[in-house]
Amino acid sequence: MKNYFLLGASKGIGFGIAKELVNKNNKVFIGSRSTENLEKAERELNQIQNNSTFYKSVDITNYPSVEEWFNKGISILKHIDGLLINYGGPPSGKFLDFHDKDWQEAFEYMLMNPIRLLKLVYPYIKDKTCSILFVTSFAVKEPVENLLLSNVFRSAITSLAKTLSREWGPNIRLNCLLPGRIDTDRIKQLDQTIANREGKTQEEVRKFFENQIPLKRYGTVEEIGKVGAFLLSDESSYITGTNIAVDGGLIRSLL
Ligand SMILES: NC(=O)c1ccc[n+]([C@@H]2O[C@H](COP(=O)([O-])OP(=O)(O)OC[C@H]3O[C@@H](n4cnc5c(N)ncnc54)[C@H](OP(=O)(O)O)[C@@H]3O)[C@@H](O)[C@H]2O)c1
Repeated sequence: MKNYFLLGASKGIGFGIAKELVNKNNKVFIGSRSTENLEKAERELNQIQNNSTFYKSVDITNYPSVEEWFNKGISILKHIDGLLINYGGPPSGKFLDFHDKDWQEAFEYMLMNPIRLLKLVYPYIKDKTCSILFVTSFAVKEPVENLLLSNVFRSAITSLAKTLSREWGPNIRLNCLLPGRIDTDRIKQLDQTIANREGKTQEEVRKFFENQIPLKRYGTVEEIGKVGAFLLSDESSYITGTNIAVDGGLIRSLL
């Protein structure tokens, strides 16, 4: 049994990872902004395995709350074997939509706050084994139109994870999980935004994207949850510094 700290795990992909880790008999300390989402997630996870799940609300855009979240987790679980860094995506838009303030805000919460969290966690993991997983996006391989901030800062996270995998080995592993189109609230919102812009229905937009995917459907949080849990666990003990896509074959590049 191991202890996992999972940021952004009350819903969607993060929750899928939490569920799989609890299914495999681990303890999880989860965080997200909404206490309502966290309570619902905790109830479901503790039904799978009693006393497996603890939570505290946290907003990655506000670093003091991240610090409080981590310290609370340590006070409950005492040590950490794995860390998931996941959170909602930034606003969509193209180059001329964003001012300096938008870039600076995205830099702070998409890159600097994860860096600050890693600095906080490091003393607790430096003398033991630990697996760190970032959720990024298939956009690091194929930048997505109208998601400029996401494209830029997720590429920076990819480079951070790769560089640290070299600096912090052999005991600490760092990897990135690249969702393609996974059926979550976030993807439904993005599809609705496109539908509104193009005068289509959400179903039409989804059909369009499903047709681009070799497996002809969106992935489920259970499917990506299994891969995320694998990357956080010792079962992936020889995998570090890499990017694993769960995309139904959507990405067209060879590597
Ligand atoms: N779904 C996809 O197909 C897809 C594809 C490419 C990339 N991604 C990326 O993968 C990540 C997860 O996506 P998802 O589809 O699972 O999204 P989701 O269903 O909206 O879930 C996001 C999770 O993160 C939490 N969260 C959001 N903002 C937060 C913040 N500021 N601080 C702390 N927690 C926060 C949410 O809970 P609260 O609302 O309670 O905070 C929720 O638990 C996102 O960054 C998304 O852009 C997803």
